[in-house]
Amino acid sequence: MTPSEQTFTHPPTKHYVVEHLDKELEAWSKLEYLSIAHECIPPRDTPHEQMPQSPNFHITSLPEELFHKLPKELKWHGNLHATMDEVVQLPGIDSAEVCLLDPKADRDMAPEDGEAFRWFVFGGILGDDPPRDRTAELRKYGFTGRRLGPVQMTTDTAVRVTRLVVEQKIPLDEIPFVDFPELKISKNETTEMPFRYVKNEDGTPVMPEGMIDLIKEDSNKGFTDMM
Ligand SMILES: C[S@@+](CC[C@H](N)C(=O)[O-])C[C@H]1O[C@@H](n2cnc3c(N)ncnc32)[C@H](O)[C@@H]1O
Repeated sequence: MTPSEQTFTHPPTKHYVVEHLDKELEAWSKLEYLSIAHECIPPRDTPHEQMPQSPNFHITSLPEELFHKLPKELKWHGNLHATMDEVVQLPGIDSAEVCLLDPKADRDMAPEDGEAFRWFVFGGILGDDPPRDRTAELRKYGFTGRRLGPVQMTTDTAVRVTRLVVEQKIPLDEIPFVDFPELKISKNETTEMPFRYVKNEDGTPVMPEGMIDLIKEDSNKGFTDMM
């Protein structure tokens, strides 16, 4: 096999796109976006020819004002492409290869979807309890939808779970989850997070770095519209 044939047989890079739907960028979203950008960096031992030539995490539809005042950690993250363009304007995107992660889709994501789709689109919205189906705003593009089970996840969790299914080929029902975890926010207080998370080996939810501190800070404000 010639080197060019070998290159051809490598699986094409998968792209993860968060279409930002809020006017502002809440501190919660910033931490979620940073953790997605970081986790999407290919591992060090990825063969050179499989390395993406450009970032594989995109934040799209940023309002102009927000785009210009994007926090430097996001602006300078090597694996993040932030743009005011909509998802459909991303270079190289082909609608037939795009999957919308949609809590109302009638089919759950499965490992073989990693063969059919190359672009995975998520709503850049804070979770709400009960969910208000703001993902509906993304259905106008007509992408094929897939669900990640019946329980609402945070955006970073949804990306994490999608990657486990389509890249590591782990079926959804084999991923360990923790639903509505109770977090200790002070000596005598706990708060329940109204979301599903991937479970760490010690039983705790996988969360972006700094999130627990932020939750503690915000614990007096209630959990509507915060994640
Ligand atoms: C925090 S959730 C928002 C869910 C929400 N409350 C709504 O209004 O649609 C952010 C994004 O994560 C993805 N997501 C979260 N849970 C999901 C699930 N169970 N199935 C599919 N996608 C999910 C969707 O792309 C969603 O737009």
